[in-house]
Order: sequence, then structure tokens, then C-alpha cells
Amino acid sequence: MKFLIFTFVGVVHLLSLGSGKAVCKHGITQRTLQEIKEEIASYEDVAKAIINLAVYGKAQNRSYERLALLVDTVGPRLSGSENLEKAIQIMYQNLKQNGLENVHLEPVKIPHWERGEESAVMLAPRIHKMAILGLGSSIGTPPEGITAEVLVVTSFAELQRRAPEAKGKIVVYNQPYVSYAMTVEYRVRGAVEAAKVGALASLIRSVATFSIYSPHTGMQEYQDDVPKIPTACITVEDAEMMSRMASHGNKIVIHLRMGAKTYPDTDSFNTVAEITGSKYPEQVVLVSGHLDSWDVGQGAMDDGGGAFISWEALSLIKDLGLRPKRTLRLVLWTAEEQGGIGASQYYQSHKVNISNYSLVMESDSGTFLPTGLQFTGSDKARAIMKEVMHLLQPLNVTQVFSDGEGVDINFWIQAGVPGASLRDDLYKYFAFHHSHGDTMTVMDPKQMNIAAAVWAVVSYVVADMEEMLPRS
Ligand SMILES: *[C@@H]1O[C@H](CO)[C@@H](O)[C@H](O)[C@H]1NC(C)=O
Ligand SMILES: *[C@@H]1O[C@H](CO)[C@@H](O)[C@H](O)[C@H]1NC(C)=O
Ligand SMILES: *[C@@H]1O[C@H](CO)[C@@H](O)[C@H](O)[C@H]1NC(C)=O
Ligand SMILES: *[C@@H]1O[C@H](CO)[C@@H](O)[C@H](O)[C@H]1NC(C)=O
Ligand SMILES: [Zn+2]
Repeated sequence: MKFLIFTFVGVVHLLSLGSGKAVCKHGITQRTLQEIKEEIASYEDVAKAIINLAVYGKAQNRSYERLALLVDTVGPRLSGSENLEKAIQIMYQNLKQNGLENVHLEPVKIPHWERGEESAVMLAPRIHKMAILGLGSSIGTPPEGITAEVLVVTSFAELQRRAPEAKGKIVVYNQPYVSYAMTVEYRVRGAVEAAKVGALASLIRSVATFSIYSPHTGMQEYQDDVPKIPTACITVEDAEMMSRMASHGNKIVIHLRMGAKTYPDTDSFNTVAEITGSKYPEQVVLVSGHLDSWDVGQGAMDDGGGAFISWEALSLIKDLGLRPKRTLRLVLWTAEEQGGIGASQYYQSHKVNISNYSLVMESDSGTFLPTGLQFTGSDKARAIMKEVMHLLQPLNVTQVFSDGEGVDINFWIQAGVPGASLRDDLYKYFAFHHSHGDTMTVMDPKQMNIAAAVWAVVSYVVADMEEMLPRS
């Protein structure tokens, strides 16, 4: 590469190679990509040391074992639950004992919803007890339950076409899985759309890539001007069966009972720990995962894995006696599942310093064998991240994909801060997501070692480079 042209704020900068520094229009010295490339290449030995420690050395399996200890002991960590607050206190102690700096809790008010007792029994065309999970924020049914005929649809469009048939019925959505982002609309808006056409309740096919008769819960949202109706997810198997029954002309009747209830908001915390920067302590690289989970399974995968490889990244860097120029800040978010409640609060109180956030990172799509990093940022920042990912050649995890994202870091990304998330096998992730199957059994210590090494190398190098990542 001889020279590179970058476009930012509509101005084309010609960045010369050579030894001279190109000067941008603000008169600030701008380093060429070639110089940055050489700087990043100089981290090769550090990257190898991190990889060796995490994957082959003394820290092997540590993130997995730490995670197992927490989630086997505490269990799932629903927003508003005692389990979540117990986990936060344990993590606070863990991070202190690990010798990390500035360990503290930042208060947040979070929602408190409980599913209570729930059941769904098909009464016609045959008796069949169905596996269900009420959706987060759903109201319950009256104590005697709701008994009603079913209308099965496969899309919102079909519901609109058949609106006159929906009144007084339980709407069952049997939407096919396309992608999580597209299909989750049915979980989020299914009850509102069904209520608009007069339904008494709605049951949504679980948003999952794979099913062994497993319901997958998650958040749903009511709308102020639409009546609230109870809503739950059902298994892919039952949704498909009801579609077949309906196409055979069978009348389907379900008795639904849900004891779901919303209580007043409760006190919780984002959990924070740092390795304070040696040269630019006010500048930050944030690494994160969320500590809360749904109330089923153990929340080991979503997002125990992400939270614990984030902690592991700081542990690895500390073990190697490294201190980056910028502050490396670990945040374990609270109440992500209810819509990034902890992260929203954090953004509100820290955004005054947004100009000093170099990169925000969140792992919340699994910590299986990573295929690379998803990244959102300027073209120049992306070119830099590609160089950083070259350092992970020994692990063969070098790809930089588009769309760095995470419910908790999106606040910063939307405001222009570069953002990165770990990319792995999403098919596997959404097979277990928000279900009773989200346990330590789906976690793999060797894969977590590699995920932690990737997370540590990326966060350390970006925190230690001479300059912050350039923005658009
Ligand atoms: C780490 O886990 C792997 C897979 O379970 C196992 O083979 C290996 O012995 C473990 N290493 C240590 C140090 O416990
Ligand atoms: C903003 O950054 C400064 C250091 O530059 C620090 O002293 C201050 O506490 C930060 N404020 C918040 C709200 O994070
Ligand atoms: C960001 O950090 C610089 C020093 O690196 C400092 O001068 C500036 O005040 C900080 N900005 C904010 C908003 O804290
Ligand atoms: C390295 O990763 C690429 C892309 O993820 C994959 O296609 C290839 O098989 C991997 N090579 C090895 C040796 O694992
Ligand atoms: Zn999650």
C-alpha cells in the first residue's frame, strides 16, 4: 500500500506514507495508516503472551470455572429478583479480590416482573398440556384463566386479513424463523397486534433456530392506547401442530392460565471495575456483558459467558503485569433483558465524557468459538480494527464483520462511538437463548478461552495505542 484516501466530514484527506506526518485541516498531526499499522504490529508479542496465558497457560478454563461457580450457586438472575442482587454482590467481591481498581457499584432502578404459576392446556381437538413461558411484562389472566378458540396466523399480514375472525379468540402466531432481528418482532409486538383486533390473549411461536419442545421467553411491549392482553411463548412444535390442525379444519380450544404480575421497581446496580490508564486515564475502552438473565435455565450463555470473558480480559491483562495507556473499564450491566435499563442509566450519567470513549465492546451473542469481531465505526477505524485482528492470527480469528452491536452499547454507538461485539455461531446461540436449556452444559471451556483471548487482545491494544480510534 502506497497511500490511502480517507473521507471524513466530507473532506478528502490524502495521507502520505513516508516518515512525514500528514496534516489534516484542523492542523492536528494525523498519523498515517502505515504508521498505525506498524504500531499495531509491535503488539505481536503481547498478543501471543495473552493467547498463551488464556488458551494454553495458567488461566486455561478460568472464565468457564468462575462462571460455573456463580451460576451453579446463584442460578438465573431475573431483573428485580434476589438472585440478581446476590450475583451483583458476589461479583463486586470477586472483582475486589482479583485486585482490580476502582471497583464500585452504580445504582439503577430496574423493573420487577414475575411470571408466577402458568399453564396452557389444549382442550380440543384433543387434550394436550403445552409447554409455555409467559413473556416479560405480560399481565396475568384472571385466576380462573381464559378458555377460548384459537386463530392461527403465520404473519402480521395474515392477522390483518383475518381480523374479523380474531375477536374473542386466542391468537397463535406460527411465524417462521428468518433471523432473530426480524422474527423477534412477533414476540415484541404480537400481543399489541392481537389486542388491536379484539383477541383475548396471544401465544407466540418461540423465536429459536432449533427446538426440542423448548419455549423461549423474552421481553414484549404493550402500547398505551391498546388493551393489555396476556401473552406467552409456545414451542415451535406446538405452533406448527396448531397450524396443521387449523388447515385440516379442526376447531382448537385452549385453556390459558398465567399468574404474571408486575411489582414496583427495585434497586439494582451496574458493576464496574478498571485497570486505570497509565497515560490517558480519563480516556476509556469499555468491555462489557450483562449480569442479569431470564428466570429459566442458569443464564450461563446469555449472558454469563459475555460477562465472564469481559472480566477475564481484565484478569489476563493484570496477570501479565500490563497497564494500558487508557483506562480499561469493565461494566457488568443490570436489567439488559428489560431493554438495557442499566446501560441506559449509565449512558445518561456518563455521556458528558463521550469524547473520551475510544471503543465500547459488548459480548452478548454467545462465547462459543469466535469467528471474528462485529464492528461499527468509520472506515479508518475499521481499517485499524482489521490490523488489530491480525494479531489473532495464531488463533485464526481475524475477521472483521459489520454491525458491532449490543443492547447495552448501542446508546454509545448511535452517538458515534466505535463499537465492537464478539461474533460466533448464532445458530447455536438462538437454539438455547432464553430457554431452560441455557445452562453450563452448553458452555465449552476451550471456546471460552479463545473468546476471552480475543476480547483481551482487542481491548488491550485499542486501550494502549497512541491515539483513540478515529470517529466518522
Ligand atoms: C480445560 O478444559 C478442557 C476441556 O474440558 C480439559 O480437557 C482440560 O484438561 C482443562 N484444563 C485444565 C487446566 O483444567
Ligand atoms: C468524566 O471524566 C472526568 C475525567 O476526565 C472524570 O473526573 C469524571 O468523573 C467523569 N465524569 C463522569 C460522570 O463519568
Ligand atoms: C477528555 O480527556 C482530555 C484529556 O485527554 C481532557 O482534556 C478532556 O477534558 C476530557 N473531556 C471530557 C469531556 O472529560
Ligand atoms: C480459519 O478460519 C477460517 C474462517 O473462519 C476457516 O474457514 C478456516 O477453516 C480456519 N482454518 C483453520 C486451520 O482452522
Ligand atoms: Zn443477553
